[in-house]
Amino acid sequence: MGLRLVDKQGQQNQRMVIFGAVFLLTTLLILYSSNTGNDAVYTSFRVAAHRHALKVTDLKTWAGKEGYVPVRNKKNMNLHCHYCALVTSSSHVLGSRAGEEINSAECVIRMNDAPTSGYEADVGNRTTVRVVAHSSVFRVTRRPKEYLKGTGSNPIIIFWGPPNKIGKDAKGTLYRIIQKVSMTYNNLSCFTITPSKMKKFDSLFQKETGRDRQKSQSWLSTGWFTMVIAIEMCDNIKVYGMVPPNHCGSKSGSKKMPYHYYKPRGSDECLTYIQNESGRRGNHHRFITEKQVFARWAKLYNITYTHPKW
Ligand SMILES: *[C@@H]1O[C@H](CO)[C@@H](O)[C@H](O)[C@H]1NC(C)=O
Ligand SMILES: *[C@@H]1O[C@H](CO)[C@@H](O)[C@H](O)[C@H]1NC(C)=O
Ligand SMILES: *[C@@H]1O[C@H](CO)[C@@H](O)[C@H](O)[C@H]1NC(C)=O
Ligand SMILES: *[C@@H]1O[C@H](CO)[C@@H](O)[C@H](O)[C@H]1NC(C)=O
Repeated sequence: MGLRLVDKQGQQNQRMVIFGAVFLLTTLLILYSSNTGNDAVYTSFRVAAHRHALKVTDLKTWAGKEGYVPVRNKKNMNLHCHYCALVTSSSHVLGSRAGEEINSAECVIRMNDAPTSGYEADVGNRTTVRVVAHSSVFRVTRRPKEYLKGTGSNPIIIFWGPPNKIGKDAKGTLYRIIQKVSMTYNNLSCFTITPSKMKKFDSLFQKETGRDRQKSQSWLSTGWFTMVIAIEMCDNIKVYGMVPPNHCGSKSGSKKMPYHYYKPRGSDECLTYIQNESGRRGNHHRFITEKQVFARWAKLYNITYTHPKW
């Protein structure tokens, strides 16, 4: 386009052609490297997470207990346990035969719609706390027998999500569903995370990784919320089924494992982790970066990882 405007002298023309070619090549190079630059993003997250390793936030006193609003009544979230089992939703729990051990923990923490029926031998059947993302509200409330009526147990459900979706003031569909559920199932204690505590989860992510959660287009995972909540309320935590941060780059990570133990034909765990970690357009989970932070927290709090052990 620019080439046609300059046609006074052949020499100038030639220069423009060369310039144009160099320009095109550079553009192509930039485009090419941004397409294959996933590794760069992946690494920069890790580097940042490393650099910030020295700034320690004491999660025991980090946000106080005011961060939870009871959906019904005026109960406080003041659960405290000496020993907690945090059961992840990863297929690494399958075959662990850890059900009995998990059941013997003082408190058992689960996430979203991870079921126990049919998987008792590996994941146990007690639930003390379930941390549920706004995106899983429908799945959890659709099967009250599995998640809400839990025979003999009186679980606490903590819902997390953007305040405009699950906040009391939102008066949106999701909040109304949560409200209805907590009215219907007497034994259940439902809480939502306050808007100010939601912000604290974001700033904690920034503190620990050096990345602004929103600017880096990251979504926090339910695992992030659950880990922090577990540290707040448990003196000792045993985590079942969480892989170490370097797992997906290692030999053991090349074996296909379902992302969720209850979806054997669902997506592959490492593929989901790696694709999210390097995802650019739109928001993505940073599962691997989060695990680097979890690895650090294990040294500060009494956290052990099992199945796999690390
Ligand atoms: C868990 O399973 C045991 C043994 O099958 C049973 O006795 C117990 O009632 C179950 N607990 C819950 C909370 O379902
Ligand atoms: C509610 O809790 C009581 C006391 O723990 C228990 O006996 C009862 O079975 C529970 N009800 C349901 C529906 O789980
Ligand atoms: C670690 O566990 C011990 C024994 O239960 C407890 O006394 C201590 O307070 C725990 N430390 C932290 C940081 O929770
Ligand atoms: C990111 O993770 C979510 C699970 O939380 C998954 O549904 C989604 O497909 C993943 N995205 C990519 C690009 O793999």
